[in-house]
Amino acid sequence: MSALPQSRAWRALAAHARELADVHLNELFASDEGRAQSFSAEAAGLFLDYSKQRLTRETRDLLLGYAQQQEMSGWIRKLFAGEPLNQTEHRAAYHMALRAPRKAVMTVNGDNVVPKVHAVLDRMAAFADKLRGGHWKGAKRRAITDVVNIGIGGSDLGPRMICYALQPFVDGPRLHFVANVDGTQIEHVLQTLNPATTLFIVASKTFTTQETLANAHVARAWLVAAMGEKAIPKHFAAVSTCMANVQAFGIAPENVFDFWDWVGGRYSLWSAVGLAIMVAIGPQRFRELLAGAHAMDEHFQRAPLQANLPVLMALLAFWNGNILGAADHVIAPYSQQLEKFVSWLQQLEMESNGKRVNRAGEPVGYATTPTLWGDVGTNGQHAFFQMLHQGTAVHPVDFILVAKPDHPHAALHQLLLANGLAQSQALMRGKTAAEVRAELAAKGLSGAALEAAIPHRVFPGNRPSNTLLLQQLDAKALGALCALYEHRTFALSVLWDVNAYDQWGVELGKQLAGTVLKAMQGERVELDGSTRQLLQKLRS
Ligand code: F6P
Repeated sequence: MSALPQSRAWRALAAHARELADVHLNELFASDEGRAQSFSAEAAGLFLDYSKQRLTRETRDLLLGYAQQQEMSGWIRKLFAGEPLNQTEHRAAYHMALRAPRKAVMTVNGDNVVPKVHAVLDRMAAFADKLRGGHWKGAKRRAITDVVNIGIGGSDLGPRMICYALQPFVDGPRLHFVANVDGTQIEHVLQTLNPATTLFIVASKTFTTQETLANAHVARAWLVAAMGEKAIPKHFAAVSTCMANVQAFGIAPENVFDFWDWVGGRYSLWSAVGLAIMVAIGPQRFRELLAGAHAMDEHFQRAPLQANLPVLMALLAFWNGNILGAADHVIAPYSQQLEKFVSWLQQLEMESNGKRVNRAGEPVGYATTPTLWGDVGTNGQHAFFQMLHQGTAVHPVDFILVAKPDHPHAALHQLLLANGLAQSQALMRGKTAAEVRAELAAKGLSGAALEAAIPHRVFPGNRPSNTLLLQQLDAKALGALCALYEHRTFALSVLWDVNAYDQWGVELGKQLAGTVLKAMQGERVELDGSTRQLLQKLRS
């Protein structure tokens, strides 16, 4: 069992939390005029107000003390030095090299990887420009109007989220995404397409993922049925780290874009996995996305811990989860364009830090990643915000607000922002019984009816949230936002002493699916009673 909760810094935080237990956020604001400014930070164009967190300056000092105890600065140095931090797979986690400028030097095992990164980026750009300009001709000499990205997990969520978020800048062929092995999805997409004007990108780091290969084979059969085997080189591209597996599928080598084992799947949107993004928004905007992420990398690597956005956000999550006991974390982007952001973040955070043993393999004995969930505001307000305000548990929230909209409806945008700000304010301040009584009395209610109504209308408040502001949701700001959460995930792994870069927990289900599939195909295999019964029911 990990001894971390017994460490000096952890125990100091726990004792301090007991002292703060009865202090309401309203009192903290009342006693400190400059609270909002003191608990704010800014980097790479993003502004964070964390003054609505349940903390004081002393809390922040103690949290920073905990970060120091965990050698945060040393781990950040190791990350940027390309050390094999993913010790169970002996790999570096070096996605920052994917967004480094052409002249930078970033080495893995003594090898400067930046020239390789830019060589692939240049090939991607040439390919994307051809497609976007209508110069890439299909087997029937027709330009490509539709591109389908086939991939799952990190080979889907990142590109899908970015293309959705940058919709106002999308000016290439129409993009479609197929991830699920549920045939409904690919069927729905194929029904709308013409094989002669469609190109498939098969994105898979390993090129062994069952769902992706199954969908790619369906796409291949659909294309071959319409135009024959000869059409494949003009209608299929692939993105992978495993060239041998790609060749076996039969995709022309000139349409294959590689990346490297030091890029984790959920950190791969910046690599060739982002080909679909580049096709959608063009190479120039893709480079702006990389530049935004790079600006956040620079900040994370160089800013002191007390002003370091990813570190601060990780410390706040640690404070809420491990010291104050919150079991989840809500993400509420007040931007329709960020509709897919939560799904991307779920893989990033929960696949990275959903761990029960520490780096040494000992059970941790404390909570690691909280359940991360959410939806765009204002939709979420009309679905689950009731629970955030009046439920029994505290659910910390990250509000994400964008100052300038990418549409002409200024009045709607004002309403959206007013709602976002009001929700964080309501969570913080709450409404007392005295306030409710006065309100109801002013409306003419009195006596027993008034008293009975009060408890249902009281809001406890004192519920923590962060507010992140972006000036505009353009490629650069989005790149910085994604990199902020990537580094927050890593910083959390340091606070929890877990490896953020492996994902062994996804393997057992994959293995068992193979066994169940055999049983479905008539082979005799060992199955438990429940699975056997369910299979029988499915058959009948
Ligand atoms: O879900 C497990 C996982 O390995 C993810 O880490 C990864 O993003 C996804 O599957 C897809 O993997 P690949 O890109 O190799 O097809």
